[in-house]
Amino acid sequence: MKKFAVIGNPIKHSLSPALHNWVFKSLGIDAEYEKKRVFQNQLAGIISDLHCGKLDGINVTIPHKGNIMQYLDEINPRAKSIGAVNLIIKNGNKLVGNNTDWFGLTMTLKKNGIDPSGKEVIVLGAGGAARSIIFAIKQSGVKKIVLLNRTLQKAEKLQDEIVFPSSLEDSVMVIKNDSIIINTTSVGMQSEQSPLDLGLLHENQILIDVIYTPFETAILKFGKKIGAKTLNGLDMFIYQALASMDLWFGEDISMQVNFPHLKTYLENKLCLQK
Ligand code: ATR
Repeated sequence: MKKFAVIGNPIKHSLSPALHNWVFKSLGIDAEYEKKRVFQNQLAGIISDLHCGKLDGINVTIPHKGNIMQYLDEINPRAKSIGAVNLIIKNGNKLVGNNTDWFGLTMTLKKNGIDPSGKEVIVLGAGGAARSIIFAIKQSGVKKIVLLNRTLQKAEKLQDEIVFPSSLEDSVMVIKNDSIIINTTSVGMQSEQSPLDLGLLHENQILIDVIYTPFETAILKFGKKIGAKTLNGLDMFIYQALASMDLWFGEDISMQVNFPHLKTYLENKLCLQK
């Protein structure tokens, strides 16, 4: 039996084991997936579990997506350019880091008929999640990304010919009535707070949040109420996980999965977790 895990801290509320084990069961794959709370000083131990065959692959989540890179034999060029690894694959004796987070957003945009090519997109936050989101929308041919962050210096580190950093306090100057806005900050995860003044929201905007617990953050709740198009992070989460499985097994597992059934299963899980 193959063994997989997601490592991170905190990890208690991760839906990754539920998702992966559902897919393994529904497709008759002899594998299991667990979650492991791992501190920084335990990363080397996880790497040796991969080397010695106790684990066949892992997903990596907050706060280890950057730090884990130093332990790997190879990093996929996309993951290197993003600066974050969310999965490790075994290739013979080598441990290879990759990133499927960006793909989660790309697929979500496609599925929902949102095409950022030639447009301006507002990204809130400049942490690890923002890096994958920025990569994904650059791939789609976005014209300009306005990167709003509480700490301006952090946003400035991601500045280039497409990314224009600004302080979150300056939102009023950059948010337009028809903006596409993607929240990558953690604001809204633990509280009913919004990273933006709700007065800046408008019915013609598209509001996307990478958060899926709660299912609807304050910004999405309000956006929905006033008629804006809103998307939470559940589809992104599912797509990144299915892409991880395709890379681990070298097959198109994602094509065999009944996406709506899987999504309903996870939505029910989220309700039970409340
Ligand atoms: P992740 O890997 O999930 O992106 P992270 O790297 O810790 O996590 O980044 C968290 C992001 O949420 C950052 O952009 C952070 O802003 P700062 O750079 O100013 O810290 C943002 N964030 C977290 N709490 C916030 C808050 N209360 N208000 C505004 N932004 C917040």
